[in-house]
Amino acid sequence: MESNDNIEQKAGIAQSEGDVNLSSARESWQRENLDDATRALLAEDARYFLHQSLSSPCLNALRSCEGSFLVDTQGRSYLDFHGNSVHQVGFGHPKVKAAIYEALEELPFCTRRYTNRYAVALARKLAEISPGTLNKSLFAPGGAEAISMAVKLARMATGRFKTVSMWDSFHGATLDTISLGGEMLFRNNIGPLLPGSEHVPPAEPLHCPFHCGKSCNLQCAGYMDYVLEKEGDVAAVIAETVRSTGTVPPPEYWRKLREICTRHGALLILDEIPHGLGRTGSMFTCEQYGIVPDMLVIGKGLGGGVVPIAALLAREDLDIGQDRALGHFTHEKSPVACAAALAVIEVIESEGLAKRAAILGNRFMEQLRELQQKHTLIYDVRGMGLLVAVVLRLPDGSPANLQAEQVMYRALNRGLSFKVSMGSTLILTPPLTIEERHLDSAVKIIDDCLSGLDAA
Ligand SMILES: Cc1ncc(COP(=O)(O)O)c(C=O)c1O
Repeated sequence: MESNDNIEQKAGIAQSEGDVNLSSARESWQRENLDDATRALLAEDARYFLHQSLSSPCLNALRSCEGSFLVDTQGRSYLDFHGNSVHQVGFGHPKVKAAIYEALEELPFCTRRYTNRYAVALARKLAEISPGTLNKSLFAPGGAEAISMAVKLARMATGRFKTVSMWDSFHGATLDTISLGGEMLFRNNIGPLLPGSEHVPPAEPLHCPFHCGKSCNLQCAGYMDYVLEKEGDVAAVIAETVRSTGTVPPPEYWRKLREICTRHGALLILDEIPHGLGRTGSMFTCEQYGIVPDMLVIGKGLGGGVVPIAALLAREDLDIGQDRALGHFTHEKSPVACAAALAVIEVIESEGLAKRAAILGNRFMEQLRELQQKHTLIYDVRGMGLLVAVVLRLPDGSPANLQAEQVMYRALNRGLSFKVSMGSTLILTPPLTIEERHLDSAVKIIDDCLSGLDAA
């Protein structure tokens, strides 16, 4: 048996992308809240699945999900402000389900060599709505694969192989994407990573090595310029336009990076997998910054929270791989996934969800900032649209990891589910279809759950 200290130490390393599955707080939550049937299902899950951080052993088991809600096997409902960022249109949107059923009946699979009307319609639609000349696409079964295709295309187009990405970033869990990513949990103790994968600090004032204080002074952008100049042969800069931890670079940052990449002949690949398609207040987050990358990667919610699908959107003149294999994925033109994606885009457009996300997100952040007046534990409230982060810190400025976990488990008991990231940041990403009264109740729940923890 591993000692508790050991387990808590491992949990510390795991505190990056999501909340940990090793902590004693989780164990006590389970002891107090799960019935025998759920425990038996969890035990079976742990018996048959390989264990890994952030998933098996799991916290609880679900029975159903619809709209903004999850229902667990004991019939308890939770507002889902986590949703793995797949639920822009909520769970089980009727139009998404109808589109899936139709494609499923008509053409459940598309064998390679053939195309189909769903895939072509999706590629056309993406070309129509994407900024600039990002008119060519390739689909993949997941975000990591789509990022991988982007890097391959950058290598082919530039004849270079080096990449520069950000510390603390996440671009997927495959071996090549963890090389680009900057999180210790994924990179540590796994052996050699992809050669030429270099990293620079992100525009993150909370941990800025250039000591910019609470507001970015663009020294990190200047450092990118320096690195690209010193290397001289970087194929691509890969970054999340905004980070799911609520890291929102200032507008000048992306304008500067766009210019720096062009000047050094490095392609700019933006990863908008978790927040593209409306979450930040426009269909694509780069539109908020008025810049167009050379490649844009989207995924997650593209499949409507039902079907896995991601897409690489590339500049038209980067269509240079005629005799090379960029993707070659079995499900690259899945009619069912493409039908779901078309329905998702149609719903986001017809229900005005991007604009809604901007309006509701501002209101939600204002309400959370009011809580900041009351709870000293709240160090910062930040985000863009309905990608909102509440950063918790202790009075001495250190991360409030234990308190963040406590808030999360207390919130579950009150029917609100969200993710804790980087140890002490509450990540709140509700569906863009969420009712305003449900956002209000989330604020109330967070308020209640913070009570009594401020002085701790
Ligand atoms: C920013 C970012 N990029 C890439 C990925 C990888 O996507 P997938 O899990 O579909 O491979 C994720 C997934 O969480 C992500 O958040």
